[in-house]
Amino acid sequence: MYHEELKKFPENFLWGAASAAYQIEGAATLDGKGPSIWDEFSKIPGKTFAGTNGDVAIDHYHHYKEDVALMKELELKTYRFSVSWSRILPNGSGEVNAAGLKFYENLIDELLENKIEPVLTLYHWDLPQTLQDNYNGWEGRETITAFLEYCEILFDSFGKKVKYWVTFNEQNVFTSLGYRWAGHPPMVTNLKRMYAANHLVNLANARAIKLFHQKVPQGFIGPSFGYGPIYPATSNPEDVLAAENADSFNNRWWMDVYCHGRYPKFALNTLKKFQIAPTITAEDELVLQDKDSHPDFLGINYYHGGTVAQNRIEKPTANQREFSKTDPYLMQEKDLQSQNPETLMFQNVENPYLKKTDWGWEIDPVGFRVALRRVYAEYNLPLFITENGLGAKDELTEDKKVHDSYRINYLQTHLVEVQKAISDGVDIIGYCAWSFSDLLSWLNGYQKRYGFVYVDRNDQEEKNLERIKKDSFYWYQQVIQANGIDFK
Ligand code: BG6
Repeated sequence: MYHEELKKFPENFLWGAASAAYQIEGAATLDGKGPSIWDEFSKIPGKTFAGTNGDVAIDHYHHYKEDVALMKELELKTYRFSVSWSRILPNGSGEVNAAGLKFYENLIDELLENKIEPVLTLYHWDLPQTLQDNYNGWEGRETITAFLEYCEILFDSFGKKVKYWVTFNEQNVFTSLGYRWAGHPPMVTNLKRMYAANHLVNLANARAIKLFHQKVPQGFIGPSFGYGPIYPATSNPEDVLAAENADSFNNRWWMDVYCHGRYPKFALNTLKKFQIAPTITAEDELVLQDKDSHPDFLGINYYHGGTVAQNRIEKPTANQREFSKTDPYLMQEKDLQSQNPETLMFQNVENPYLKKTDWGWEIDPVGFRVALRRVYAEYNLPLFITENGLGAKDELTEDKKVHDSYRINYLQTHLVEVQKAISDGVDIIGYCAWSFSDLLSWLNGYQKRYGFVYVDRNDQEEKNLERIKKDSFYWYQQVIQANGIDFK
């Protein structure tokens, strides 16, 4: 769609930035906090980059006032942060840690005093270790009960102060990395277990939203999904079909459940064929279909999408059919095949049109517009961009400056596409860049920086944790002041 003139960003657009508890807070054992699965996992040799962990992180726990003062200077309208569950309930359920609640109360009050709208994420991956030990984490239905107990405490404590809430951050990422690829805790490599755990997270999400609607009727709640649009490699209809399949597996598998209360049929049939589909009881179906358990908005975390070609089996020509008889995938035992059922539906390929970041993530601003339009067209809910940003190695100059023109360029080009999506008619209520300050990248340590604010520490040393404003800080400040990117 061509626009001679782009629409302005809405008057009350929530310009913001985001973070997550484990990546910034530090104070891992302080004031009664219990251990989370990330506290334990990051200590296992070889699991994280250079053995980095969040024990100190950027010590936001002790620097939160200074950090909020910087947010104020940046003129942020909103700030998205997550609560560490085991700071509130050290054992995941049961006794409440008053000091933990107090920390978040102080943070929320500090934000509100500075006219910054808090956006509270309930779960950004740091499950209390006790729940992992006692109930197998998200593989046990007891964890759903514990999650609701935790949510209720936060709804009761902060429901009057916090308007925007996020249930789960990137459920697609933490279930896949945790239960399929073993890159995150609990380090499982079993697809059946992944789909089973994921189903329980869906139930936890739905029930938490329903509870929220009862307890905080004036608030807004939704999940933050790591969305990537899927492109077909060519206009070959087989590739187009493969893209449909990939969309079912990678996006709809979660989004349809959140918004329509059911799994996409084609993907579910494939999983059933391999006997790795989740067990969905009649009661579960009712929970998921209940309209009160559906989100008020969709949080979108956008970094990149993916490109796919037709699956390796359905080849149209005789030659290719011949080839499929010797296809290594088909020759695998059935249980090995079931570890990669997508192979029946699509295969991932490189996109020759896109450049990549230093960490190999495609840079695709137009894909952002595609993503926003597709999600809005399908689910018809307001969208809140809860993450988008560039991880890069920044250099601190001797006179304490960080000239991160590459980050400005990344954000600027992505915001142009957001503005185009708004002009197309997509309802977008806010944009939180990832991230406000530098922080711990889960598997890439402190060298992969995302923030507007540089934090003086590295992978080996905590140093003085001094906060230093990058060039992008001043650029974003102008964006917020101008309520958009058209300024000189
Ligand atoms: C998102 C997460 O997946 O991507 C963030 O919600 C994360 O917590 C961000 O930090 C960037 O990922 P990475 O691996 O570059 O730190």
